[in-house]
Formats: sequence, structure tokens, C-alpha cells
Amino acid sequence: MHLVRLKDWSSDDVLDAVERAIEVKRNPKQYAQAMVGRSLGLLFQKTSTRTRCAGEVGMAQLGGHALYMDWRSTNFGLADLGDEIRVLSRYVDLIVVRLLHHEDVVRAATAATVPLMNGCCNRYHPMQALADLMTIQESLGRLQGVRLTYVGVLNNVCNSLVAAGLKVGMHVTAVTPEVNAAAEDNELYSQAAAAGLFTRSDDLHGALKRSDVVYTDTWIDMEYFSDPAYEEEKDRRIRLFQPFQLNAALLAGLDLRIMHCLPAHRGYEIDGALLDDPRSIVFDQAENRMHGQKALILKLGGC
Ligand code: CP
Ligand code: NVA
Repeated sequence: MHLVRLKDWSSDDVLDAVERAIEVKRNPKQYAQAMVGRSLGLLFQKTSTRTRCAGEVGMAQLGGHALYMDWRSTNFGLADLGDEIRVLSRYVDLIVVRLLHHEDVVRAATAATVPLMNGCCNRYHPMQALADLMTIQESLGRLQGVRLTYVGVLNNVCNSLVAAGLKVGMHVTAVTPEVNAAAEDNELYSQAAAAGLFTRSDDLHGALKRSDVVYTDTWIDMEYFSDPAYEEEKDRRIRLFQPFQLNAALLAGLDLRIMHCLPAHRGYEIDGALLDDPRSIVFDQAENRMHGQKALILKLGGC
């Protein structure tokens, strides 16, 4: 079993992963030997703090070994991706890939002979969304019927929230004046909308009033931050999104949880002070990336 995108998972599998994550967080010692003698390979084309650390530390906490590989310092870039993944599958028991293009994640999953997890690509971020569900469950005590408003770019993180919502009965409203073209998944949006669990809206204030959770993400995906060719687009997005910044004035008087997958760009998509607001569950959410990743290692690893 792979985790390429949540759209392909059953509701039962999504709920099982969330329950396991909560259980692993509650009783970490019980799982300290679960992965003895087993290895997790982490192959990254994009940078990372959370996904990498959660994988490496999480696997160590399960008694196993993690092997981090930067795309540029391996031979993945020189050879056929499928061949290299087949070889990696002979060494390790599980694989996490963070690749720029979703098509490459699919190619890797097709070639892998061990379970493979998508650690974020241009279209989806399923491991993030599972940790987000876990965090919402912990904070609100339920998932079904929760109303979440996502504000920002319709991107990989938003897609996985929509897919996650569809599986557990959580409604997502997207206030997204810009769509990352490569991320657009109209089939997913139609499925979620038909289930009454996805709405696109221009009415930010109205959506927030009806929400239990507000969620935002960067206005620019991480691989473009240091790309000089992206400077003009960066400026355009900052101008476009300024009115959609999460800040104290926008959220005044609203009883909702504040979420962000991180890394946050203080003063852009979120005013820095909101990260420390009593309504913020951002750092629990970040911690839960590790419990969530441990649960996925156990689930996909057959434990
Ligand atoms: N949220 C998330 O995936 O963080 P990293 O990019 O640091 O892994
Ligand atoms: N959407 C952003 C953040 C993901 C953690 C990106 O892909 O860079």
C-alpha cells in the first residue's frame, strides 16, 4: 500500500491513520521496538524541516533507521527514476519521496516494491493533511461536520485538505483568488462539492463567521523562493494576497482554531502574532507531523 494522494484512500484508511497517530502520541513507549531492523529512505528534491525531521526522528523512535537522501547528492538525477527507486526498494523497507512533480511521485510509486509515501509534490501533501486531521480531532474532539476555511493559493496543501475532508465529512471552503495551475484537480473539487463538502467562495468574512478552523499556507511554493525568474510573480502575489492576510483585525471576535502547515512567512500570509494567539494550534499541528508520520510508517509497514 502506498500513500500517493488521499483521494485514492478509503475513509476507513484515513480514519485509521488518524486514530493510530493519536494512539502513538499517547503511548510512544509501546511502539519503541516496532521497527527494529527496518529502514526508511527519505528522498527529497524540495527542502524541508518538518517532513524530514518527522521521518528521521519518528523512525528512530520506532527503533528503526532512517536514511536521508538529497536528490542532488545521489544519482537519482542522472538515471531513470524507476530504476533507482527499484534499487532503493532492495535496501529499505519504506520510502518517503518529496518530488517537485506529481508525475514523478506516481512513477516512483509504480516502481517501488516497498510502501511509498508522498512527502509533498506540486499537487498534494497527504502526510500534512493527515496530521492536520489529527490536530483538529484533538482540538475539537470531532472531524465530521467541522467547517474549515482555507485562505490563500489553491495549491498542494489545499488539495489534500479537500481530499481529507471528503474522506471524513469535514467541509472545506476555499477562499483562493489564485490557483497554482499545476495543482488544479477539478475531479477532486467536483467529487467533494457533490458530497457537499467543498465550496469555493469570495466572501472571506462570511466564510470565517461559519468556520471552526481557518487555515493558510505560503503564497509562493518553497522551490520558487530563491528563483530570480520568480521575482515579479512574487511581487504580484504579495499585492494580490495582502487583503487575505490572517491577522488580528480579520479574526477579531471569531471563535475558531488557527492552522498553518509551516513554514510561515510572518507578515505575509499570517501576521506573526497570530501564531502565538490562544486560538493558534499551529505548533501542535507541527508536532503532530511526527506522530502522524510514525503512524503511517506503522500502518504501511504492516504493524
Ligand atoms: N509542512 C511541511 O511540510 O514542512 P516542511 O516543508 O518543513 O517539511
Ligand atoms: N505549499 C508549500 C508548503 C508546503 C509545506 C510548498 O509546496 O512549498
